[in-house]
Amino acid sequence: MAVTTPDQLLEPAPPLSAALRAGTRQEHEDAERSAFVEHLVDGTLPLAGYVDLAAQQHAIYTALEAAGDRLVAAGTHGDLVFPELVRVPAIEKDLAFLVGADWRARVRVLPATADYVARLGQVGDDLPRYAAHAYTRYLGDLSGGQILQRMLERHHGLAGDGVSFYDFPQIHKLKPFKDVYRERLDALDLTPAQRDEVVEEARVAFRLNRAVFTDLAAAHVR
Ligand code: HEM
Repeated sequence: MAVTTPDQLLEPAPPLSAALRAGTRQEHEDAERSAFVEHLVDGTLPLAGYVDLAAQQHAIYTALEAAGDRLVAAGTHGDLVFPELVRVPAIEKDLAFLVGADWRARVRVLPATADYVARLGQVGDDLPRYAAHAYTRYLGDLSGGQILQRMLERHHGLAGDGVSFYDFPQIHKLKPFKDVYRERLDALDLTPAQRDEVVEEARVAFRLNRAVFTDLAAAHVR
């Protein structure tokens, strides 16, 4: 039987941001290594694959940002909903550029995206669940997303138009902003069970992203 020593009782829990990073490290590696992402990075993904990704992101961010709005309306936002992160208008601009003004009639939502959107609907106005999903997407966009933007620009000759999803014009410097985001995560007033729930739901969020990449790979990776 495991015995809790007095030292362990005194040991403070790691900050939530550190627990999230450690708790999703394996999932992050798996997502990075998915065939769709690898092809996007090495330039062998056809532009149609990226356009399809943008369409999936439109559905995902519409649901994520609706959840953010619900938390703000309910007063449960924990200072974690930032207007400067909002992505839906940028994705809509990208799709209009890439597909045309009638893009809404010409894009489809893949089954894995529908699952992801359904899970985001279940966030309701619950802060731990929102924190998990917002962390997974927004810190990813502010990190690896910046690399993906450079690759898309390099391989497909895109510049600004079509990849504005990765631009955060209201955020002057990404690194200090990410630090503030992590501070906000760490300042959330959560019980130990809620903290565990955040990390567990972030793992789910990564897996949902990976499933979207799998559907996209089936359609676009030869
Ligand atoms: C080619 C693909 C990717 C690359 C090269 C990449 C790269 C990176 C890098 C370098 C960081 C560290 C940034 C820092 O500490 O400031 C990071 C962090 C992160 N990435 Fe990715 N990433 C990729 C894909 C993804 C995907 C698909 C997701 C999830 C949808 C994701 C979510 C995250 C998150 C949440 C963080 C923050 C980790 C933390 O500090 O807590 N990344 N990524």
